[in-house]
Amino acid sequence: MLEREFANITLIGFMGAGKSSVGKKLACALEWEFIDTDAAIQDVMGISIPEIFERYGEKRFRSEEKYLVKRLSNLQNHVIATGGGLIINPENMELLSKNSLLIWLYASLEKIRERVGDNSPRPLLKRDWEQTEALWLKRQPVYRQADLHIDTTDKDLEEVVNSILAELKQNFGNRIPHAQ
Ligand code: S3P
Repeated sequence: MLEREFANITLIGFMGAGKSSVGKKLACALEWEFIDTDAAIQDVMGISIPEIFERYGEKRFRSEEKYLVKRLSNLQNHVIATGGGLIINPENMELLSKNSLLIWLYASLEKIRERVGDNSPRPLLKRDWEQTEALWLKRQPVYRQADLHIDTTDKDLEEVVNSILAELKQNFGNRIPHAQ
């Protein structure tokens, strides 16, 4: 049983873990709002994530993420799907964990590769798989700090959402609306 108050649910995890699709479906099940940090940044900047990286570099993207997280920390009843690297900044992690339940969507590296393929538009997957593996390994201890861990490796979308709803119910009972 988790002893933790929270106003939002934030999904963290590596690229290809399914944060956006799971987040949308989870928000629907809870009758909460959904926000995707990559989509929000693309809206603000008016260009795609690959274009942001190409034109302005990763540093600028990370500062957009940081700015957005400050705004997100005032939300309530939102499911927030984060970009895979957002939580790596300890300040972002600290701010989000203040009012969010953090859920780590884990997937094995083999499964990530299967899901995203070799032609992903994601800027950080344009490197070779050895570099991706190094990044995946480096980030595991950070993701592991989440309140709940869901292994998505052998689950489809519906199974992942149901696992989350079951964990919520087990930990928080009826305090989460419609979590059944
Ligand atoms: C990134 C993950 C991407 C996106 C950007 C950087 C990362 O989001 O934010 O390309 O550093 O892991 P997804 O995790 O939704 O692919």
